[in-house]
Amino acid sequence: MPAEKNQVESLDVPEDFYERIEHDIRARIAARLSFAHHVVDLGCGSCELARFLARENAQHVVGVDIYGSGFSEEPGGQGSVECREADARRLEFIYDDSVDAALSAHALHEMQEPLEVLREARRVLRSGGEILVVDFPRDSLAQRLWNESYLTPTEVVELLRKAGFTDVECRLIAQGQLIWAEGRKGPAGKEMA
Ligand SMILES: C[S@@+](CC[C@H](N)C(=O)[O-])C[C@H]1O[C@@H](n2cnc3c(N)ncnc32)[C@H](O)[C@@H]1O
Repeated sequence: MPAEKNQVESLDVPEDFYERIEHDIRARIAARLSFAHHVVDLGCGSCELARFLARENAQHVVGVDIYGSGFSEEPGGQGSVECREADARRLEFIYDDSVDAALSAHALHEMQEPLEVLREARRVLRSGGEILVVDFPRDSLAQRLWNESYLTPTEVVELLRKAGFTDVECRLIAQGQLIWAEGRKGPAGKEMA
């Protein structure tokens, strides 16, 4: 049996681990992004997290998903939510330098050209704006449950840096079952190579 499979199978977390931590992770994301007025959620799925942010933080959130058929109808509270069916590689409907925070939750690994998505996220962020990527890492419980092609923390860091973000930080949270990565759009001319 390959070593990788052994590692995944020996994980000491229950199968419903991600459901158990969902509430806490949402709250953590909302707290981290509470500074922002305008947020874009890339690969927003049902747009529930976008609506949660609008309720919790009274933010204006644009949720973008390439499959727009499953957007929820929950109210967005004091903020506003716009769910758009669009490819996160091409956010033509969002101006340059207009967004305070970009979020991608559990979605970067599904995107065909994640570097293009991150470059586009950087384009729409204002100078000093921040990106937050939360995703399942390779060899995590997610690998055992859904067996998709997940990124490693190192790969996420490389992508964020290649996309031009500065102050890139990445760590594993939730007993190693999630990647939490952050970056900033620095002033013009301060991009990383
Ligand atoms: C696992 S879901 C995560 C949904 C949501 N963010 C959450 O946390 O529950 C990943 C989503 O990414 C979307 N997606 C994949 N590629 C995309 C792209 N290029 N542009 C926009 N959305 C994309 C998929 O349609 C899917 O809804």
